[in-house]
Amino acid sequence: MARKIVVTSGKGGVGKTTVTANVGRMFADLGYRVVLIDVDFGLNNLDVVLGLESSVNYDMLDVFEGRCRLKQALIQDKKRKNLYVLPSGRIEAQSLITGQNVKLLIESLSKIFDFCIIDCPAGIDVGFHRALSCAEEVLVVTTPTLTSIRDADKVINIIKSYKLDKVGLVVNRARGDLILSNKMLYPLDIKEILKIPIIGVLPEEDSVFLSVGKELYKKCESYKAYKVMCKNILNDKNVIYDVTSKYSGFFGSIKRSIKNCL
Ligand SMILES: Nc1ncnc2c1ncn2[C@@H]1O[C@H](COP(=O)(O)OP(=O)(O)OP(=O)(O)O)[C@@H](O)[C@H]1O
Ligand SMILES: [Mg+2]
Repeated sequence: MARKIVVTSGKGGVGKTTVTANVGRMFADLGYRVVLIDVDFGLNNLDVVLGLESSVNYDMLDVFEGRCRLKQALIQDKKRKNLYVLPSGRIEAQSLITGQNVKLLIESLSKIFDFCIIDCPAGIDVGFHRALSCAEEVLVVTTPTLTSIRDADKVINIIKSYKLDKVGLVVNRARGDLILSNKMLYPLDIKEILKIPIIGVLPEEDSVFLSVGKELYKKCESYKAYKVMCKNILNDKNVIYDVTSKYSGFFGSIKRSIKNCL
């Protein structure tokens, strides 16, 4: 049976879809069979982030309304034979697809995959509950901003009522230069506020922003940080990727000054 992990946040635009796509790709590269499920009905874009939007013929609503079989709606990644995405569908799916429907669908996918990773919509309304009811594990993504942390806190409190196996924190868009200048919270401070274990710390990097529809460049810092995070998920560890290291020491402080001048 697959591990079913939902990626959620509270605040929108913090990187849920990006995390879903990159974790999915990395697990697939390690040989696992992975399916990424977009339950962000209406504002769905997981297929776009993966560069697969032109391959979408059917979506989840088509499966439920009998226009296609589940296997026909799954899109295979262009590069990895063991990575699939299930697109969510049109806005009307929002009212037509229930949590129970999605749960049953994910149950059947979990028999043929090792990982079902579910991309959740922002907010705490019906779409959030629908996604949570399908998973056993949660990754709560936040950026190191007070607004995002506050929303993550609200989400974590709601998640408690679901009695899930694992709830982990992903701090995305962390800036080592700002952390060392005391202008941004340390990931460990965020962990203290939210009181859940850190699974990933991911740097803010242009290469992530520019990788939409493409692959993450293997030599970029984010790729290394994602690797640490994926190992944590696989081995149940909490190793923290240090986003400040390249700004520490003499040369690091020069880099920091240059970055802060720009
Ligand atoms: N670490 C990062 N560094 C730079 N840009 C990033 C990083 N993570 C995500 N982004 C960019 O931030 C934007 C929002 O990311 P994404 O769509 O993954 O967020 P989301 O939480 O899924 O949004 P929504 O709530 O709308 O579904 C995208 O343009 C993405 O490329
Ligand atoms: Mg998204």
